[in-house]
Amino acid sequence: MKKRKILILTALYGVSVTAFLACTAKPQEIVVQKSVGVACYNKSDAFLSELLGCLKEDCEERDMTVTIRDAVGSQRTQNDQVQELLDEGCDVLCVNLVDRTDPSVIIDMAREKDVQIIFFNREPVAEDLKQWTGLYYIGADAEQSGVMQGELAAQMIENNAAVDRNGDGKIQYAILEGEPNHQDAIIRTESVVNTLKNSGIELERLSYQIANWNRAQAQNRMNQIIGQYPTEIEVVLANNDAMALGAIDAYKELGYEKSQMPLFFGIDGTVEGLNAVKEGELAATVYNDKESQAELMADLVYAIVKGDSVEEFTFERKQYIYLPYQKATPENVNDFLFKEK
Ligand code: BGC
Ligand code: CA
Repeated sequence: MKKRKILILTALYGVSVTAFLACTAKPQEIVVQKSVGVACYNKSDAFLSELLGCLKEDCEERDMTVTIRDAVGSQRTQNDQVQELLDEGCDVLCVNLVDRTDPSVIIDMAREKDVQIIFFNREPVAEDLKQWTGLYYIGADAEQSGVMQGELAAQMIENNAAVDRNGDGKIQYAILEGEPNHQDAIIRTESVVNTLKNSGIELERLSYQIANWNRAQAQNRMNQIIGQYPTEIEVVLANNDAMALGAIDAYKELGYEKSQMPLFFGIDGTVEGLNAVKEGELAATVYNDKESQAELMADLVYAIVKGDSVEEFTFERKQYIYLPYQKATPENVNDFLFKEK
């Protein structure tokens, strides 16, 4: 806290301009706050809205103003919004791309004004970040989250013979996957399945559906799966909590009792996800550390506006920073629910 105050004071000093009133000798301080323009793909995304809440708070704590624009799923809208943020004079941009493979227009516009960009959560490919040194990415390693989800599921399957409901020695499972082309979707699916297999668990995939990170879509897809396999699904592996919760909604709405439901696994540790773990509805989740991601972004933004070197930041890959995931289970879920910043 103390360190933060000192940093804020330094920032104020660094960016304040001294204006002289015409007839007095006394100088008057006018403080010009630095502004951060944030562009996001869709604010209705559960994980993202929590991450944005943290980012706003962290930037404001560092005495910077924040303007957030929501592209509601359109890259074209996002390009226009970034142009507006630049025209309004933002000092740094934080961009959560709609289409992570298509950042060129945004990079060109920002570069023209020499405004650096921190991309987050939706990872641009290396060729695109190479276009300019004023580009960064802050996120998390998709593979790690899938591996952790697989380890959690393997452990719970091994410790509880009843998960193999029909006792055939195999785990019949369904996958609910996020948006196609999102780095976290395919990689999480692959790594969770590989981790389970490598733990010696025999698997039988009954269904694989894309539900675009979305709770209502997941409920819909799960309804179809249940229609086909009313009692056969033993485990549901969802690429995020929202979809795991949507799958639970589907079983509940069809009148299934908890004892008749499969085990559900999510990723993110959103407030709703963590509460579902606490209540025993979600077997476990993998914490996608929004607090640390937001804080690191705010630190990097702050270093950029002060003109400091960014060398103190640990880049795992050139211009890319990844923060670790953590396993969240009924045993430690309170640590995440009441996480101190
Ligand atoms: C999260 C998802 C979220 C997506 C949005 C992922 O990292 O796990 O919950 O919908 O990012 O880009
Ligand atoms: Ca079985």
